[in-house]
Amino acid sequence: MSALHFTVTFLLLTLLLEVNKAKSQSFIGVNYGQHADNLPSPAATAKLLQSTSIQKVRLYGSDAAMIKALANTGIGIVIGTANGDIPALASDPNFAKNWVDTNVVAYYPASKIILINVGNEVIMSGDNNLISQLLPAMQNVKNALDAASLGDKVKVSTVHSMTLLKQSEPPSSGSFDPAYGDMLKGVLAFNNATASPFAINPYPFFAYRSDPRPETLAFCLFQPNSGRLDGNTKINYMNMFDAQVDAVRAALDAMGFKNVEIVVAETGWPYKGDSDEVGASIENAKAYNGNLIAHLRSMVGTPLMPGKSVDTYLFALYDENLKSGPTSERSFGLYQSADLTMTYDVGLSKSSSQAQTPASPATEKTPATPSAVAPSPEPKKASWCVPKKDVTDSELQASLDYACAHGIDCSPIQPGGSCFEPNTLSAHAAYAMNLYYQSSGRDPSSCDFSQAAMLSSSNPSYNGCTFPGGST
Ligand SMILES: *[C@@H]1O[C@H](CO)[C@@H](O)[C@H](O)[C@H]1NC(C)=O
Repeated sequence: MSALHFTVTFLLLTLLLEVNKAKSQSFIGVNYGQHADNLPSPAATAKLLQSTSIQKVRLYGSDAAMIKALANTGIGIVIGTANGDIPALASDPNFAKNWVDTNVVAYYPASKIILINVGNEVIMSGDNNLISQLLPAMQNVKNALDAASLGDKVKVSTVHSMTLLKQSEPPSSGSFDPAYGDMLKGVLAFNNATASPFAINPYPFFAYRSDPRPETLAFCLFQPNSGRLDGNTKINYMNMFDAQVDAVRAALDAMGFKNVEIVVAETGWPYKGDSDEVGASIENAKAYNGNLIAHLRSMVGTPLMPGKSVDTYLFALYDENLKSGPTSERSFGLYQSADLTMTYDVGLSKSSSQAQTPASPATEKTPATPSAVAPSPEPKKASWCVPKKDVTDSELQASLDYACAHGIDCSPIQPGGSCFEPNTLSAHAAYAMNLYYQSSGRDPSSCDFSQAAMLSSSNPSYNGCTFPGGST
């Protein structure tokens, strides 16, 4: 490659990455629950959010001071009606009109309200009367928005709990509990007709709690693991988040709603818990949220929805010290309300998300060339991804940077990690490139790195460091 060609390619790819980055960041939102008596001022919270790559915030209610503080920040705002307001919203169009006038029309468009959730996890109330009033309430809110000429700008939905699913494993067999069939058919037809999202709360933390084995933890934290094979689709799922989201996708598809988009209204991991709350720790919370954010930014999507990131609202902005229940319930905060510092760093601050942006010609995947793929008719059997013999140090470094910025855990090759020794660029790059390939479901095109990598059937593991892979 000539120097000029190299430079032009470099600039083009850098530009592409910037565009891609700007697009991907809009998929990350945060939940702001306010069951607390120690919260920062709305202005301080607005300022904090602006210092991050978080572009959307979900309020559970419609806190006027917070909505006002977010005016002219460009941050998208999701607001909600209380479950207790559902009967009045359902039976009285005027109540719905007043609600919309007071909580939306008064602040729009300076405050960029994008979605109204009518109720939260209504099925958890166990109140069938309330559940049956959900759809009429949503319709009245939608009518009120239409009357205010905001129907195209502000969507209406509701947030569902994962307990709505009767089955979620394997993901392709995902299906909803028929007990909620009537409510769901109506709400889904509403979502479909109004292009509003189906919002759901997947928590791999709870999946781990009910199956606390080390391999489940790695699967839940997006860490190296052997994956879980969906026997129907032959897809090997590499993390619980994708598996849970795809189970919802399968359940929606089975009801005929292939076009209804999924939004992850809440997901998170507590950094602290009671002694019987397995998995609640700073280390795990940082791994879950950090790897989830990198996964979303990578734009790989889920196996059933490849190439796009599902809109995801992290739970939560701050701890909620007035919540009841186990310690974990009060320990989901990404930021400390006392001084607005990060509880742990997941790369959300604007500067760190830039630092993570790979900026080298090796960063965009070029299509796999025949030489990069093992000639076997079943390339997935060649199980490790390794650097080619003749690659330069700068190619190794670029591949290393790319892999570590794209959703894999590179802590083992950092000082003190199990794969830090030998401390050489080639060993570290080999580790990261292979891990990236493994966590991309061993898709041969993920073992390319601008032709710096190749598939190998021999195990490259070195002293004390086991490379994920193998022939299974
Ligand atoms: C979803 O909406 C589209 C467009 O309005 C419509 O053609 C389709 O029949 C709807 N699907 C279902 C399952 O209701």
